[in-house]
Amino acid sequence: MKVAVLGAAGGIGQALALLLKNNLPAGSALSLYDIAPVTPGVAADLSHIPTAVEVVGFGGEDPTPALEGADIVLISAGVARKPGMDRADLFNVNAGIVKNLIEKVATTCPNACVGIITNPVNTTVAIAAEVLKKAGVYDKNKLFGITTLDVIRAETFVAQAKGLNVADVNVPVIGGHSGVTILPLLSQVEGVSFSDEEIEKMTHRIQNAGTEVVEAKAGGGSATLSMGQAACRFALSLVKAMEGETDVVECTYVEGGSEHAQFFAQPVLLGKNGVDKVLPYGELSAFEEKAMNEMLDTLKGDIDKGIEFVK
Ligand SMILES: NC(=O)c1ccc[n+]([C@@H]2O[C@H](COP(=O)([O-])OP(=O)(O)OC[C@H]3O[C@@H](n4cnc5c(N)ncnc54)[C@H](O)[C@@H]3O)[C@@H](O)[C@H]2O)c1
Repeated sequence: MKVAVLGAAGGIGQALALLLKNNLPAGSALSLYDIAPVTPGVAADLSHIPTAVEVVGFGGEDPTPALEGADIVLISAGVARKPGMDRADLFNVNAGIVKNLIEKVATTCPNACVGIITNPVNTTVAIAAEVLKKAGVYDKNKLFGITTLDVIRAETFVAQAKGLNVADVNVPVIGGHSGVTILPLLSQVEGVSFSDEEIEKMTHRIQNAGTEVVEAKAGGGSATLSMGQAACRFALSLVKAMEGETDVVECTYVEGGSEHAQFFAQPVLLGKNGVDKVLPYGELSAFEEKAMNEMLDTLKGDIDKGIEFVK
C-alpha cells in the first residue's frame, strides 16, 4: 500500500506522517509532498524511525513524483484558521490549492482513494469531485472528506463527561464539517443518557471544538496533533478495508446518494475499492432531527460554492 500525504510539511502533515510511519502495515510506502523545501528533510528525519515503512519526500512545485503509484492520497495542503476566522474564510486560498492538487491526482493516480482534510471540507470535497469529473476519472466511492476529528472529539468529550472508558464510546457524527453542519448523534451513544441541557451543551462544544483549539493556539494555527491522529485513524481503516477486512466502518463525508445533500457525512462501510456501502444513520431524536433540518441550507450552500468554483 502506498500512501501519499500532500501538505506533509505542515502541522497536520508532519503529525500524520509520523503516525503513519509508525502504524502502517509493514511493507507499506509513505510518500510526502509539500511546496515547502523542507519536505525531503521531513522524510529523511522519519526514515530513521525503525519501522518497515519506506518514506520518501518531495518539495517544489510538482506533486507528480509523490503521487506515482499511490493507492491512497491524503490532502492537508493549504492554510489553517487564525482566531476570528471560520472555515469558510479559508476558501479563497484553499480552493485553488485543492483544485491544482486534484488535477495532478487525476492524471497521475486516478484510481487512488483520496481523503481531503483541507478546509472548508464541505466545499473542498465538492471541488475535488468536479475536477475529477472534468478529467473523466471521478469515482464517488473513492473520494472522502475526513470528518474523523469530529468523531474523536465527540468520543473524548462524552467519555470525560460520563466517566466512561473512551475506548468503549462510539459516537456517530453526521452532516458536514463546520459549525452547525457537524451533528453528533448523542441519542445513539450506548449505555448513557443526557438531559436536554447536556445534549445542547455537548453538541455545541463538539461543533465548536476546532475554535477552542484555534483560540488556545492564539494565532499559531488550528488543530494539528488531534487532526493527525484523526486522519491516521481514517487512513488505517481505509488500508484495512482495501486489504480485505470486511467490517470496517467510519463516519466520513461522501457522495453517497443521501436524501439530504449531494455530499453528507454518515457511517460508511469501507471496502477494497473505497466506499462499499453508505450505511443508514439510524433514528434521530427530535433535537437531532431539528438540527439536521436547520443545517441543510448551509451545507448545500457550501457544496454549491465548490461546484461553482470549478465551473
Ligand atoms: N478536516 C479537519 O477536520 C481539519 C482539522 C484541522 C485543520 N484542517 C485543515 O487542514 C489544513 C492544513 O492545516 P495545518 O494546520 O496542517 O496547516 P499548516 O499551515 O501547518 O500546513 C499546511 C501545509 O500546506 C503546504 N502547502 C500550501 N500550499 C501547498 C500546495 N499547493 N501544495 C502542497 N503543499 C502546500 C504548506 O507549505 C504547509 O506546509 C487547513 O486547511 C486546515 O484548516 C482540517
